[in-house]
Amino acid sequence: MKEKKLWGGRFDAAPSSLMIRIGESISFDKELYAHDIEGSISHSRMLKRIGILSESEQRKIETGLIQIKKEIDSGKFEFKIENEDIHMSIESRLTELLGDLGKKLHTGRSRNDQVSQDVRLYIKAEIHSILVLLFDLLTVWVKKADSHTKTIIPGYTHLQIAQPIRASHYFLSHFWANVRDFEDFFSAYERANELVLGSGALAGVNYQTDREFLRKDLGLSRLSENSIDAVSQRDHIFKFLFVSSQFMVHISRFCEEIILYTSQEFSYFKLPDHLTTGSSIMPQKKNPDVAELIRGKAGRVIGNLTHLLVMLKGTPLSYNRDFQEDKIPLFDTVKQIKICTEGIRDMVEGIQIFPENATRSLRNGFSTATDLADWLVSAKGIPFRSAHEIVGELVKHCTLKSYDLFTIPSGERGQIHAVLTDPGYEAAISLETSCDKKDVYGGTALSRQKEQIKKAKTKLNELTKKLKSLESKGKK
Ligand code: ARG
Repeated sequence: MKEKKLWGGRFDAAPSSLMIRIGESISFDKELYAHDIEGSISHSRMLKRIGILSESEQRKIETGLIQIKKEIDSGKFEFKIENEDIHMSIESRLTELLGDLGKKLHTGRSRNDQVSQDVRLYIKAEIHSILVLLFDLLTVWVKKADSHTKTIIPGYTHLQIAQPIRASHYFLSHFWANVRDFEDFFSAYERANELVLGSGALAGVNYQTDREFLRKDLGLSRLSENSIDAVSQRDHIFKFLFVSSQFMVHISRFCEEIILYTSQEFSYFKLPDHLTTGSSIMPQKKNPDVAELIRGKAGRVIGNLTHLLVMLKGTPLSYNRDFQEDKIPLFDTVKQIKICTEGIRDMVEGIQIFPENATRSLRNGFSTATDLADWLVSAKGIPFRSAHEIVGELVKHCTLKSYDLFTIPSGERGQIHAVLTDPGYEAAISLETSCDKKDVYGGTALSRQKEQIKKAKTKLNELTKKLKSLESKGKK
């Protein structure tokens, strides 16, 4: 005889082997065990409060649940696919330990509100860990920027050399994008910070469930407003996956830059050996695998978001079994975000810059041509269109004769326009001057970079406070 299911009362036949295999989620949702137990302990305390469990019954249930947690922690717990999911695995073990008393735990609760709550608790805990890692990365961006205010590298548009920028400016540009990611993850944390227990299967429960007690006991910030909404929607997962995708797109673009800048053709950056790999056939190779893998994983995380959006779109309210699959993209994304955040941090920390190669590209790329035209306007009173024309001709001449703006002899410049032999010419094309003339708030001038680094450090202090606030909120 096959064992009867926890829900088996109205059935004559046990589920087929196919039904068991297709229906089980224990192979992946065991990840939720700590949160499921946390929710069940609070639920049992609430049941005692409203007179459904006696004090000693509640104590036994809580002790049993703690024991089960230890069994799972230590790998001793035996997961069986016949128990379907993590909720029923824990409940049936509790019944094994406590007999009929274990069967009282599920009073006034459905797996629909239970799973929805567990996932919210999981998201909160995981976002907290992600924020700690992300904060670490933010700190490293600022450190790197701080040590490279004097290093000048090319800035690009269309992947064509555009203008010289300070390397600090470049690093901080990624810092600020990741600051917004941090703030958005924080808001995804708040989205999940809700008590949904008491919603039951969908309509609420036939007991005077004390939701406010549960909210406080689980350290959540508010009650869900509508029991149907609470068990039906998955925007707490969406939001986490949206932000994760945004973050992955941000860091994937940085990875692409790493891949380019460490290539032979650019050679601006070098990654430390421990973050690269060799080739089994080409002895000269040093491949930027971490950057490539993170770029690849960005596709995977965006796919996870798409998975969930598409999975939900045609389902009627309230709960549908399809939703069981929502955990797969969620858990995978959490894992990817954590490892990628660490990967980016290590790369940023380890980047070695070769300013002479950057300078060579800046010169070859005529990166200060705009500055020269602006100098003709401001110092020589030439209208901008004409200045643009003169510099354009100069660049053309240099290209034909393999000069750059620095190497073309003064005589040849004079053939294009007499004004180009003026002694102010050298200063006008200098990379430093070009940077320092961008003296606008947020610009690449040295003084502005120092200002920005201060601002970034102030931001870090503000974010530390946000992180600390989570620690105190998490505590019950
Ligand atoms: N394992 C299920 C899930 O993750 C739990 C909820 C089951 N609810 C149900 N009505 N069968 O979605």
